[in-house]
Parts: sequence; structure tokens; C-alpha cells
Amino acid sequence: MNDFSPLIVDWYRLKKRELPWRAESNPYFIWLSEIILQQTRVSQGIYYYLKFTKNYPTIIALANAEEKEVLNDWQGLGYYSRARNLHFSAKHIRDELNGVFPTTYNEIRKLKGVGQYTASAISSFAFNEKRAVVDGNVYRLLSRVFNLDTPIDSSSGVKEFQELADTLINRENPGEHNQAIMEIGALICVPKQPKCIECPLKEKCLSLANNCINSRPIKKGKTRVTGRFFHYLIFNSEEKTIIEQRIGKGIWQNMYQFPMVEVAKADERIDLSAFKNKSFESPVRKHVLSHQHIYATFHHFNSFPTEINGNWRTIKQSDIQEYPLPRIIDRYLEEEDVF
Ligand code: ADE
Repeated sequence: MNDFSPLIVDWYRLKKRELPWRAESNPYFIWLSEIILQQTRVSQGIYYYLKFTKNYPTIIALANAEEKEVLNDWQGLGYYSRARNLHFSAKHIRDELNGVFPTTYNEIRKLKGVGQYTASAISSFAFNEKRAVVDGNVYRLLSRVFNLDTPIDSSSGVKEFQELADTLINRENPGEHNQAIMEIGALICVPKQPKCIECPLKEKCLSLANNCINSRPIKKGKTRVTGRFFHYLIFNSEEKTIIEQRIGKGIWQNMYQFPMVEVAKADERIDLSAFKNKSFESPVRKHVLSHQHIYATFHHFNSFPTEINGNWRTIKQSDIQEYPLPRIIDRYLEEEDVF
């Protein structure tokens, strides 16, 4: 389809949102924006983008920061491996690449946390390299416009959609083409009740003609969600409390939490008899992650335990915000005005 790119780019020039990273050609800022936006809505991402570009105006500033500081600034965004990879890559660029952000797709793709989509986005936006982006918006748009029923979560689907996107990309202005296709996916070709009347591709759209917009894209299967059951112990004595650092792989790696006991089932009892002066426990609070639902109960005690576990740390309650906390804890502290 020869006029695909002109149609979307003309639309984009008239209708695009003014977003702070769109005025940028600095690859470091573009990289920051793309990592932030990987699992985050634009409306929420703007705040974090502005915070990160202000607190870490150069890649060297980011590299020189402490991981704790970076995780703290990331708090609330979730998927903390993104923040750890950002920090790791900044140090790598400082130490191994003379502080210069890589300038080609192949080099950018080698950065930790940068996959095919992100490398395409950065290399096309910052360096006008001809690499077609395929993200969730693009899958949806292409599956509709070309009426494709290959599951987008199959290996043949991934290949087919990438090849199609590659054939459509505009040779003169690949960065703008990529922004345009994602913008139409985000604003017009939305999952529910797409705004086909406003779409620059409406004359071309095969699934609109075939009346199957609502069954595109096709997905093979949804991932199963696991439930996890966390019991947090909040010790309260003389304006102090106890926290521990999460160790090992998995969610919230290296972040801090109240001492926690995980059980396998919702109704499994936990033995808290070692801890005295329990004042109350919270109702179960649910926290939804992409593949896990966390059910948390907070148990409050008005004294410290007699035995302190080796990896526990006593802190002043008023200092708790200095530690990177999972959102579920931060929200509880805030909503229940705990300290
Ligand atoms: N989502 C991912 N990257 C984006 C970008 N550059 N602009 C808007 N939304 C995005």
C-alpha cells in the first residue's frame, strides 16, 4: 500500500499530541522516554519523564547516581527491572562507551532492557534509521487495516507483522512514520470502540469493510494469573519500625518492605505467636500486577519483637520514604496514614 505512509504522516502532523520527548533529538532523553513508556500510560509517563530528565539531565548524571536513588524516583511505575537496567546501561555507557550514547540500531539493541521495539524507536526517532516499530498499538492497527488473523502472540505472527511494518515504512522520514503509526494506534485505532470515522486509513481498512474490527487482533491465549498471599508485620515502638530488603530475583528486587511472611493459600494461617502486643490487622488488600495478583494483610504490633532477624533493619518511622518501597506498601502507608 503506497499511500499508507503519506496518509498517516499527514494526519500525524495535524493531530499529534505535543509530548515532551517529541521535541527531543537527544537519544538519551528518547531512551528514557521509551523505557518509561514500555509498560506505562503516556499520562503517567510524562510526570516520570520530567522528573528523570530534571534529576538526571545527562547520562553521566544517571550513571553517577546511586541505585537506591534511581529506584526511589521510579517508585510507583512498577516493573523495577526497567529502572535497574536504565542505571546499569548508563554506567556501561559511561565506563565502556566513553559516555556517548550508541548511534545505530545494532549498538542500541545491545543495551540491557532494550528489545527490538525500543531499539527501533530510539534509532528511528533520534537517528532516522529505517527501522519499523511494532508495539501493541501497531499490531492492532495492522491486524485491522490488513485484516490479518495470525495470532499476534505466535512466533509466525511476530515475524509476519514485523515484515509488513518493514515494507510500509517511509524511506525519507522513518522516525515520523513510526510516531504516526503508534499515535493512530493510541488515539484512533483503540481496542474498544475505535474512532474509525476520524481515521486517515478508513478507506483502506479491510476489517472495517469486513465488519470485523472488534475481533482484531487475534490472540492465542491469555497468560494465567497467579495469586500470592503476603503478610506484612508492622512493628511500632518509640517512633521506630522494622524493614527488610527483598533479596533474590522476582518482583520488587532489592526494594524494602516490612518483614513479610508469604503463604501459599488465602486461608493458610500464619503463626505470629512470637510477636506480642498485636493491635490490629488490615483487611486483605489486593494489588494487581501483570501476571500476579498480590493479596496483602498488614499486621500491626505495638512493640518490637524480642528477637531481631539478621536481615531486619530498625529505622525511624519518619525515614521510611528514603527507602524504595513497592507501591502496595507505599499506598497503604499513605491511605491509612500509618505513621
Ligand atoms: N509509547 C511508546 N513510545 C511512545 C512515544 N514515543 N510517544 C507516545 N507514546 C509512546
